[in-house]
Amino acid sequence: MKLCIIGSGYVGLVSGACFAEVGHEVICVDNNQAKIDMLLKGKIPIYEPGLEELIHKNVAAKRLHFTTSTEEGVDKSDVVFIAVPTPPQPDGSVDLSYIEKVAREIAVVLKAGTYRVIVDKSTVPVRTGEKVAETIRRYNKTGAEFDVVSNPEFLREGCAVSDLMNPDRIVVGGNSEKAVALMQKVYEPFMAPVLVTDINSAELIKHAANSFLALKISYINAVAQICEASGADVEKVAAGIGSDKRIGRNFLNAGIGYGGSCFPKDIAAFIAISDELGVPFTLLKEVEKINEAQRERFLTKIRSALWVLQEKKVAVWGLTFKPDTDDVRSSVAIDVVRALVAEGADVTVYDPKGMEKATEYKLIEGAKLANSALEAAQGAEALIIATEWKDFAAVDLEDLKKVMHTPLIFDGRNLLNPETVRSAGLTYTSIGRA
Ligand code: UDX
Ligand code: UDX
Repeated sequence: MKLCIIGSGYVGLVSGACFAEVGHEVICVDNNQAKIDMLLKGKIPIYEPGLEELIHKNVAAKRLHFTTSTEEGVDKSDVVFIAVPTPPQPDGSVDLSYIEKVAREIAVVLKAGTYRVIVDKSTVPVRTGEKVAETIRRYNKTGAEFDVVSNPEFLREGCAVSDLMNPDRIVVGGNSEKAVALMQKVYEPFMAPVLVTDINSAELIKHAANSFLALKISYINAVAQICEASGADVEKVAAGIGSDKRIGRNFLNAGIGYGGSCFPKDIAAFIAISDELGVPFTLLKEVEKINEAQRERFLTKIRSALWVLQEKKVAVWGLTFKPDTDDVRSSVAIDVVRALVAEGADVTVYDPKGMEKATEYKLIEGAKLANSALEAAQGAEALIIATEWKDFAAVDLEDLKKVMHTPLIFDGRNLLNPETVRSAGLTYTSIGRA
């Protein structure tokens, strides 16, 4: 089929490349000319494992195209996906201005006598689809036919390509049989169950899924605090409860908390929309509180071990919000770096993929950059592991001990094994473990 994706970011670009990979003809639209220019030159503006080769292969096969023109994308496609940002407002509610703008841009280019399915892929609060349809009706003057459906994505960054190529399920929310049938055709090649719902349920599924995953994380982080107080080991507890199929081991990794461009904003949005609907979601407010507290507790551990942070030479491994991505949006690792710098520590950071964006967005002013993990640890009085990149687990502990001034390790992601680290003569503090 002929598909158009408006918004070629982490979600739009991955979706477009995968749709082309399974045989569709895809036009990716973006209003950022520089981004489109990069893509037209074969350069990829984001890092996602497997994405670069997928894009090159499908551009060569003439199934994947890039443009800044919404009109071109809409004219040449049967289905138009909206994948533009839905950032949080200060009060936690969602800024839908990009969605509304794109809805208007689509409305004015829809031609008489054509039919299009307009798909909301961006994460939006429940009842947004109705507003998108209303906006397109209001701004389209050619009487074009269209239907709006919701098709939330469940892609994790760092494994977005594999998540989309092997989805657990596809969710399509729509009230038009014609539109739903077309969507089932779009996803046929993925051979995954397609759950068809009304549009509001589909929108709610996305927020409910993300907030449940964040709930699991805050749950194990709260249990980690009890493990620390009782001398238990949270990794053993996570294994013990996670082996129950009803619970599942995934998303029970204790650490300095969740970040990223989705969980914090989706939880805040779900809380805001629930308040608006008159059904306050107090449980999610607790999930947020636990998440904040986790980061503060970790910083307190560092402070109490170093007594005074002022002028102390501290190395931080990790800037991205999770491994295998270059994304630093709402990264807890960045919050840790900024807190240490603000308290006068002499911070040196290293991240395999995140340093460029962290510097570009001026997120780590005052911190020094190193070219390797070991270089960052050179002369350090403490080392903090803030993102669980595999590269960091591969560092030789003997070398690490040699280069550090004092061998104090604070592992915010329980990446390392306590016994191994201690037997190498390093002092080791982690989360939820003695
Ligand atoms: C975004 C939202 O953050 C997420 O909640 C939603 O589920 C999907 O879209 P992401 O792809 O990570 O996720 O955003 P980003 O990487 O910022 O990409 C958005 C792209 O849209 C950018 O390339 C931006 O240039 C483009 N854009 C934005 C448009 O093309 N038109 C606009 O009006 C606004
Ligand atoms: C999440 C959802 O998983 C995905 O389905 C949705 O489409 C977008 O939001 P993402 O934010 O890309 O994906 O990454 P994820 O792997 O979910 O991690 C989110 C945050 O939770 C990261 O900061 C990660 O460090 C943290 N996390 C994750 C934990 O602290 N513990 C865990 O066990 C898992």
